[in-house]
Amino acid sequence: MVPALEVAPQENQDLELDSDMNSNCNGATQERVAVIGSGNWGSVASKLIASNTAKLSSFHDEVRMWVFEETLPSGEKLSEVINRENENVKYLPGVKLGKNVVADPDLVNTVKDATMLVFVTPHQFMEGICKRLIGKVRPDAQAISLIKGMEVKKEGPCMISTLITQLLHINCSVLMGANIANEIAQEKFSEATVGYREDEETALKWVLLFSTPYFLVTPVQDVEGVELCGTLKNVVALAAGFVDGLEMGNNTKAAIMRIGLREMRAFSKLMFPSVKNNTFFESCGVADLITTCLGGRNRKVAEAFAKNNGKRSFDELEAEMLQGQKLQGVSTAREVYEVLSHRGWQELFPLFTTVYEICIGHLSPSAIVEYSEHKPNFALVDGSAQVY
Ligand SMILES: NC(=O)c1ccc[n+]([C@@H]2O[C@H](COP(=O)([O-])OP(=O)(O)OC[C@H]3O[C@@H](n4cnc5c(N)ncnc54)[C@H](O)[C@@H]3O)[C@@H](O)[C@H]2O)c1
Repeated sequence: MVPALEVAPQENQDLELDSDMNSNCNGATQERVAVIGSGNWGSVASKLIASNTAKLSSFHDEVRMWVFEETLPSGEKLSEVINRENENVKYLPGVKLGKNVVADPDLVNTVKDATMLVFVTPHQFMEGICKRLIGKVRPDAQAISLIKGMEVKKEGPCMISTLITQLLHINCSVLMGANIANEIAQEKFSEATVGYREDEETALKWVLLFSTPYFLVTPVQDVEGVELCGTLKNVVALAAGFVDGLEMGNNTKAAIMRIGLREMRAFSKLMFPSVKNNTFFESCGVADLITTCLGGRNRKVAEAFAKNNGKRSFDELEAEMLQGQKLQGVSTAREVYEVLSHRGWQELFPLFTTVYEICIGHLSPSAIVEYSEHKPNFALVDGSAQVY
């Protein structure tokens, strides 16, 4: 289990702070926001944030957005096109980001002077990104992670918010919810949950930064609960996609979602006893599970996987169907399985275990509705019956 976190002052800070840069014309301190990531959700998050920083005096209006540089088929650099068109033509075409969003391919320059750091990249790149940022972020910066996924280390699972805190020595909240990015880009109403550790004042700052009339954000004091909801639902979405590919119908899909939610809660509470039941009723819980199992890329690619009876790999389908966007569910299924097998808990989590075995080709997609033949053995883990 991940040890309790302490945010220690950072050593070898090689950053020169310029405090004057973060104040408005009245001399009042302003927060400066940097967004690390510019995929589909990263671009939408930048748009949401920029609409608020443009009108709230407590924030500097510019939002700097780090772009993992790519050369487009036209030969132009993605960051240059974003700055010229005010649009991420690759990951969010057709949507203006706001003139105050500045794309920057230089990671260190993006975070320079920022007091609020928004992390929103596919989770597999985060360790490398954080290592590049050691000593480069302000020691008083606050972070928030919009990233769904975790790292599995020898010691156990490490949530992305924990990784950020451990490597950068800054506090990290999370924002998760029923948030399919393209729908929020169209300003359709939705909700989200901010999970925070202790500092309610900072949580309210994040709420202010993200909230709009069409994006309602609620804070809850449960970082791990919120983050695990966002992470684990992608594994359930794969199961829902298999069910769709097999044309099993709505009852079966609802059953998979219910069983999946139960395993999400059990896994979260076994990993982090502090996780609260109520968190599963917030947008990050049941609502995100529903939207991801109805729409979303993990469901879509898993449906194609089942239609092809597992004969085309997820890597191949991802490359063909997602045009550079990344699937999170398959790597999360593997990470969850690593935790389960390390602890001998596979029988307690038949849905999670079966999803992984289907992904690696050990079982056929139809096994997703046969899994209940394995009876979960509650006696294997002390206290687990209470969490089911
Ligand atoms: N898209 C959504 O609807 C949505 C909603 C909620 C949360 N999320 C989460 O947000 C996070 C980011 O997803 P997204 O949708 O913004 O991204 P995406 O899948 O749309 O795009 C992939 C991004 O990764 C970048 N990238 C590729 N190779 C890289 C590398 N080696 N190093 C660093 N970056 C690299 C690409 O440039 C691109 O910006 C994920 O954790 C995802 O689960 C996504």
